[in-house]
Amino acid sequence: MATVKACNILITGANRGLGLETVKQLLEDSCPKRHIFATCRNPDGPKSEALRELAKKHPSVITIIRLDADDPCSIKESAKKVGSLLGNNGLNLLVNNAGILARGTIQTSSVESMKNTFSTNVIGPLLIIQEYLPYLKKAAKASGTPGMSCSKAAVINISTVGGSISTMPSLFKKFPVLPYCVSKAGFNMLTVLASEELKADEILCMALHPGWVKTELGGEKAPLEPKESVEGMLRVIGSLTEQQHGGFMDYTGKTIPW
Ligand SMILES: NC(=O)c1ccc[n+]([C@@H]2O[C@H](COP(=O)([O-])OP(=O)(O)OC[C@H]3O[C@@H](n4cnc5c(N)ncnc54)[C@H](OP(=O)(O)O)[C@@H]3O)[C@@H](O)[C@H]2O)c1
Repeated sequence: MATVKACNILITGANRGLGLETVKQLLEDSCPKRHIFATCRNPDGPKSEALRELAKKHPSVITIIRLDADDPCSIKESAKKVGSLLGNNGLNLLVNNAGILARGTIQTSSVESMKNTFSTNVIGPLLIIQEYLPYLKKAAKASGTPGMSCSKAAVINISTVGGSISTMPSLFKKFPVLPYCVSKAGFNMLTVLASEELKADEILCMALHPGWVKTELGGEKAPLEPKESVEGMLRVIGSLTEQQHGGFMDYTGKTIPW
């Protein structure tokens, strides 16, 4: 059961995997004024069918918005649309969840896989934060409460322990996914620098590792089900204060070293 109290929430990559599970669990709690902007790159495609069904059942809570993290124009367009739907309200919680994995080692990683992972996993989230910042600032100002929380204004970056420079070397043999790890290390730095820049506006910013989870990206061998991972992440997100601003934690609330 989610314990997140944020009203207006935007999630990227919400059509499947952890993003879709997050939307499902956010529907379960009784937050009366909640609105979820569930974004995905192809709202009409076959991979978005489950999200379309969910939105049909909860039309007053879910709005599906097209957002391709790989396409700056679509990010801009999405922000315009969400801004017009928000009206005078701000955006309380932005979850940068969309991500891609590419395999490779020093000897085998291609230019294409490095460029693709950087575009989706680093540049996309940067542009998304830029475009949605005015709405996050609006929410932070409107809250009238001191400090930081996800019900006020927050950016949660769904990263991975694979982007931890101090942890990944011991896992590399088991997970030879260099382009993914290098891009997520960049994403982690983006999180730290965003937290530095957004501190003055009291917008909470941190990175979260979901665990190794059975999704298309995580694969069949993963020990965790999406339900357990997302339950944990929402518990962590709901409990965040300025103490965790600029930090890196996993779905159980354990701190991960950079
Ligand atoms: N599963 C794990 O074990 C694990 C572990 C650590 C971290 N993570 C992180 O958790 C996040 C979610 O992963 P997941 O396991 O749910 O993976 P997933 O099942 O493969 O889902 C990935 C999601 O990202 C979307 N996406 C990919 N490229 C996109 C783009 N250019 N624009 C917009 N959306 C895009 C996909 O949409 P399409 O349907 O359009 O492809 C899909 O909704 C990722 O950031 C991943 O790095 C996962």
